[in-house]
Amino acid sequence: MSGFKLAIDGPAGSGKSTISAMIAHRLGWTHIDTGAMYRAVTLKALELGLDLNDESSYRFLESTFIHYDNDRIFINDRDVTEAIRSQAVTLNVSLVSSFSYVRQQLVHLQKQAAKEGNIVMDGRDIGTVVLPQANLKIFLTANVEERAKRRHKENLQKGKNASITTLIEEIETRDKKDSTRMVSPLKKADDAITIDTTNLSIDQVVDKIVDLTRSEGE
Ligand code: CDP
Repeated sequence: MSGFKLAIDGPAGSGKSTISAMIAHRLGWTHIDTGAMYRAVTLKALELGLDLNDESSYRFLESTFIHYDNDRIFINDRDVTEAIRSQAVTLNVSLVSSFSYVRQQLVHLQKQAAKEGNIVMDGRDIGTVVLPQANLKIFLTANVEERAKRRHKENLQKGKNASITTLIEEIETRDKKDSTRMVSPLKKADDAITIDTTNLSIDQVVDKIVDLTRSEGE
């Protein structure tokens, strides 16, 4: 297979990033986590102390290069892979990603990055906006309790602790903001295949998508 574009979308905590990274490793493809890119913009805006509600604040993107490479995310040459997972970034990222200026800048970078080679790209608008011609589109879902439990487990491994109830609230708020925003909201593409991962292990989901990819590529 060459030049295959696999688009994976879904709500917060549906497992997109982990699953996409595993698929890319298994197939030897390039993975691009677009959520990490929106998080990097949010981190930079917070560090600069900008007014996050003002769309013109994000002009700094004209001279800032955000890129995802080999499971790491960079702002210019600075590796911010761990820093983008902070609570402050998580609480503000849906606001930052609602601005059309921010989206235009990042969507442009994402389209460029996906031009060459076999790509797995995950996010909220990959099948609808970034790669509408993708060879295969997957929409991952899971019920909110399961998604909060997964986030809780992930947090504990990183030494962070937040109750499941708090995480459910945080995920529901983010889902609502992401699905109701004016510009490219989180939405399943008409031609995407939905996989409900509530009762599936990560390996089962990866196997399923790899099988679908192989049969699509034949
Ligand atoms: O926390 P989780 O891994 O589920 O989210 P993420 O993939 O890191 O994305 C963080 C946030 O970035 C989302 O809640 C969206 O607000 C935004 N985002 C977006 O608007 N469009 C994308 N293609 C990817 C992420």
